[in-house]
Amino acid sequence: MDLHSDEKRESVSFSRKSLVIGIVGITFALIFACYITFYFTKVNYDKSVIVRIAAVTQMEPTYARRMVPCFDEPEYKANWTVTVIHPTGTTALSNGFEKESSKLGDHWTISKFETTPKMSSYLLAIIVSEFHFNEMNTTSGVRFRVWSRPEAMNLTKYALEAGVKCLEYYEKYFGIKYPLKKQGEINMYVNNHEEDGYK
Ligand SMILES: *[C@@H]1O[C@H](CO)[C@@H](O)[C@H](O)[C@H]1NC(C)=O
Ligand SMILES: *[C@@H]1O[C@H](CO)[C@@H](O)[C@H](O)[C@H]1NC(C)=O
Ligand SMILES: *[C@@H]1O[C@H](CO)[C@@H](O)[C@H](O)[C@H]1NC(C)=O
Repeated sequence: MDLHSDEKRESVSFSRKSLVIGIVGITFALIFACYITFYFTKVNYDKSVIVRIAAVTQMEPTYARRMVPCFDEPEYKANWTVTVIHPTGTTALSNGFEKESSKLGDHWTISKFETTPKMSSYLLAIIVSEFHFNEMNTTSGVRFRVWSRPEAMNLTKYALEAGVKCLEYYEKYFGIKYPLKKQGEINMYVNNHEEDGYK
């Protein structure tokens, strides 16, 4: 890629329209836009408590640029093609429909997602967890999943039914088809933010 930097103006310019960004390392621990949450499960035979970890991004309003170099303004939109390398046994989620997932060595899994429609950086989301999901499809064929800790799965029924109804209502009200193949909701208590929206 052709890179030109201008120290005086503190700017970098490049000629390509598409930017491939690789982040290597324990990103979730290092990036400000990512939060790690802890919860407990009492599943051990000896009744000891197991600590579980889940990680989630929160890009609103202007934290996407802490994870990827980008113009972090709602006005500027891009197609996002996300690949996540995460511990085997966990599930990675992002805005795009899941494309493929395969093992990468003994402990890691690589999950690839389809390219999103053009969208603002604040909507970008990545989640890694051991959550389970309940699923329904809307009448227009959007796959709707609500993710939760396995022990709280019976609390997802209402969210799922209400979510599907809302999506169907808004598609009809606005006369605009929801542009993604899927919609997901995940309930995670992280710094008072609830993660939901365009994914
Ligand atoms: C980018 O998004 C637009 C819709 O917003 C879509 O038409 C186009 O196919 C996408 N580009 C790629 C490379 O997926
Ligand atoms: C939703 O639709 C997909 C694709 O047609 C299908 O595989 C899946 O079983 C459906 N899910 C439910 C809960 O009906
Ligand atoms: C969910 O399941 C738990 C344990 O099985 C039960 O104690 C709780 O009352 C259930 N909650 C609802 C809303 O059904």
